[in-house]
Amino acid sequence: MIERLILATHNQGKVREFDKMLAGLAGRIEGAAEHNLPEPEETETTFEGNALLKARAAMTATGLPALSDDSGLTVEALDGAPGIYSARWAGPEKDFDMAMQRIYDELGGDIEGKKAAFVAVLALAFPDGTEQTFEGRVDGTLSWPARGENGFGYDPIFVPDGFDITFAEFDPADKNAMSHRARAVEKLKAYLSNE
Ligand code: IMP
Repeated sequence: MIERLILATHNQGKVREFDKMLAGLAGRIEGAAEHNLPEPEETETTFEGNALLKARAAMTATGLPALSDDSGLTVEALDGAPGIYSARWAGPEKDFDMAMQRIYDELGGDIEGKKAAFVAVLALAFPDGTEQTFEGRVDGTLSWPARGENGFGYDPIFVPDGFDITFAEFDPADKNAMSHRARAVEKLKAYLSNE
């Protein structure tokens, strides 16, 4: 079992969430804020690249194993955009109405039923140089106009395959149980339980 694991995020909500999810598999989960870690610029071109960059930076700064995540929405007809730019499309005000409108505009309004996927990649970096990534993905289609009050980000325009409601119309517990993040975490847990 990993005694101390740095979670390369300044989001205390995420630290608590991972603490619960990894109970019994990792000892103490410590956030980047506790260690005054800088937030590295996400300069890579893939979810894996950016997740590894963040995990590596936290591991190097602390000398402890570090975990990070990177996630976003990819739209097939936009060559994967917004993808790693999912947060950035919402701008400094985190305006996701604007970000969803940009998807609509870039598709020239032809958005209904377009293939999309939510992707999450978790990266683990150990002081001995070992690195592992775990990917979770939920395939679906886009729908317009935005519907639903739950969730966040691009949830109101994403309909997962096999359903006819958007992620923002799901009961939050149901979405969390089947989300891209949950799927990546399952793979991470399987890895840690074999360590
Ligand atoms: P990150 O925090 O840099 O990984 O940015 C992830 C971005 O992707 C978020 O700001 C959201 O815009 C988007 N995203 C990731 N997961 C979800 C989700 O479950 N629902 C809606 N949007 C998401």
